[in-house]
Amino acid sequence: MTRQIVSVVGGADAASGAPYPSINPARPAETVATVLLADAETFASACRTAAAAQREWARVPAPVRGRVVASIGRLVEANTEALARLVTEEIGKPYAEALGEVREIVDTCDVFLGEGRRLYGQTVPSEMPDKSLFTFRVPVGVAAIVTAGNFPVAVPSWYLVPALLCGNAVVWKPAEYAAASAHALYRLFAAAGLPDGVLNIVFADGPATYEGLDRALGEGTVQKVGFTGSSAVGRAVGELCGRHLQSPCLELGGKNPMVVMPDADLDLAVEGALFAGFGTAGQRCTSLGTVVVHEDVHDAFLTRFAEAVRDAKIGDPNGDVLYGPLLDHKFAERYEEYLGWIQPHHTVLPGPTGRMDGDGLYYHPVIVDGLRPDDRLFLEETFGPIVGVTTFRELDEAIELANRPGYGLSSSIYTSDPKAVFRFREGVSAGMVSVNNSTSGAEAHLPFGGNGKSGNGSRQSGMWVLDQFTRWQAMNWDYSGRLQKAQMDVADITPDLGFRL
Ligand code: UN1
Repeated sequence: MTRQIVSVVGGADAASGAPYPSINPARPAETVATVLLADAETFASACRTAAAAQREWARVPAPVRGRVVASIGRLVEANTEALARLVTEEIGKPYAEALGEVREIVDTCDVFLGEGRRLYGQTVPSEMPDKSLFTFRVPVGVAAIVTAGNFPVAVPSWYLVPALLCGNAVVWKPAEYAAASAHALYRLFAAAGLPDGVLNIVFADGPATYEGLDRALGEGTVQKVGFTGSSAVGRAVGELCGRHLQSPCLELGGKNPMVVMPDADLDLAVEGALFAGFGTAGQRCTSLGTVVVHEDVHDAFLTRFAEAVRDAKIGDPNGDVLYGPLLDHKFAERYEEYLGWIQPHHTVLPGPTGRMDGDGLYYHPVIVDGLRPDDRLFLEETFGPIVGVTTFRELDEAIELANRPGYGLSSSIYTSDPKAVFRFREGVSAGMVSVNNSTSGAEAHLPFGGNGKSGNGSRQSGMWVLDQFTRWQAMNWDYSGRLQKAQMDVADITPDLGFRL
């Protein structure tokens, strides 16, 4: 019997909603779970429940909240195989990668469990005697988190763990097509002892989520929106939040470039391009978009890259494969549209394109050589197993090409020349730069995020995300017993500005 999954608000199942089948993309006839999708009112009411629960949660000392985060980490670790298997079954991520994804949650908990004993504020000197200045980190309130399903458990943990640690309550809306994985993660968080209402999970489609969010923002029950997904939806979320005078944390798409310099170790670059472009079937926001290769090494690189792609194993994600099926039907359909952007002036390698024979949502890997800077394939994100190739002569030209699509999430350069590395780092618009490494595979404690069409400059992960889930409060305390006016009642020490040696 297939599982039935429902939203959980205030610790109780919200048992009604329209059924949605979350399928196994390796065997699309198999339903992994039937999800009941909630309406806008359920979303808004979850935000009210969260707002009511948040006040008590914020009073729990941060080191105690840190212990809850520690328990979440332990529970996730103890359930690694079960969670990873479910991820593989529901979105077709190769099992080895799914294990890595689960590891990323544990890493995130490891970072933040100690933050409960830090969460530092500052003491700041005052310009007047007998007065002290302080800063405090204050939780924002309720965070509404809307996540994609390509990282159905790791990326949500980047939001949930620090948001909860900082004393916020959360309403989490995961992707419908990854609902079973999300629900399993929710249960692990709940088992760590979070009080009812502090973390709520609501399954809903896009329009109901948007309407529910609009309502909640209007009612003042949401103070921070976190969104991971496409640039187009991110723009709509950003507009909505802007109308309510809020700045969301946006983690959007990417068209991540990999620059291959003439002095690059080509075998290493090929290995990096293979994993960055085709690992996870190219369905990471950090996946490689375009290889920008120096014209002197273009042919050598392309031959080896095409060979590596031809030899790659694609198939059952439970086996030892480079990639499995696409996430879901809608991703497969969209990917087929991208294939339609291939033009007569392009060269397609290494062989056939499109869906492979059989039932699963498996697609051939595609390299498109000869991209031009105005091609749609060059300019827009193409979530799926397709990588473009173009050439350059001078490093400045490579940097210009790297920035041209207007995204700015991840980037990579292969070279042994430190001067080229630092010039690239300085010139590239991306929030993340890899040197002799894949564009994907960021570690869980460095700032993660992008610029331009990849986001609004917000950063997740590590200590940098604390600024998303807390606000600084400044306090001054005057114990002089009189009113000392800032800027006016300040002692003046007179310098001799005419002094010269
Ligand atoms: C995403 O695809 O939204 O850096 C995140 C990486 C992963 C996260 C990807 N750790 O590739």
